[in-house]
Amino acid sequence: MPPHDLDAIRAQVERFRRGWAEDGVSQWAAVDPESERLVGRLGMMRHHDWPVEPSPVEVGWVLDERWWGRGLATEAGRISTELWREHLPDERLISITVPENRRSRAVMERLGLTYRGTAHWHGYDVIWYAIDR
Ligand SMILES: CC(C)(COP(=O)(O)OP(=O)(O)OC[C@H]1O[C@@H](n2cnc3c(N)ncnc32)[C@H](O)[C@@H]1OP(=O)(O)O)[C@@H](O)C(=O)NCCC(=O)NCCS
Repeated sequence: MPPHDLDAIRAQVERFRRGWAEDGVSQWAAVDPESERLVGRLGMMRHHDWPVEPSPVEVGWVLDERWWGRGLATEAGRISTELWREHLPDERLISITVPENRRSRAVMERLGLTYRGTAHWHGYDVIWYAIDR
């Protein structure tokens, strides 16, 4: 997927703020502790426009490429699944990506999510995974 421009990033930050306020769940900012720069976003968020089922919670990850290969997405995913088990007992946890995103699929598989199907969402043909309790 193409990188976001500044307006799209602002809209996304606003969406995460709204998520925390209205859904009680949203993504965390990944911040480099040395430079204090934003280097990604990680964790859970609720999607109200997912075509397969109403308003599921998704676990997801985006990192600046310089931060790949260190296990950070997997670590955030592990913490997310722990929080999901503890605090969202009635919810299903899914994860969505495009079929060719090998790295994202590898994170899902490391966390124990399994392939469930395809969908067309936000203009993309996507695949989705889920985890059983
Ligand atoms: C998806 C994305 C976050 C995955 O990043 P990643 O670095 O592959 O995943 P992790 O942070 O979990 O790191 C796993 C890698 O770190 C290595 N690693 C190093 N230390 C590790 C540790 N302590 N624990 C786990 N893995 C570790 C693993 O062996 C693995 O390496 P590999 O790529 O050689 O197999 C990244 O590719 C990305 O931001 N892509 C662009 C955005 C995107 O597509 N997001 C998904 C949208 S659906």
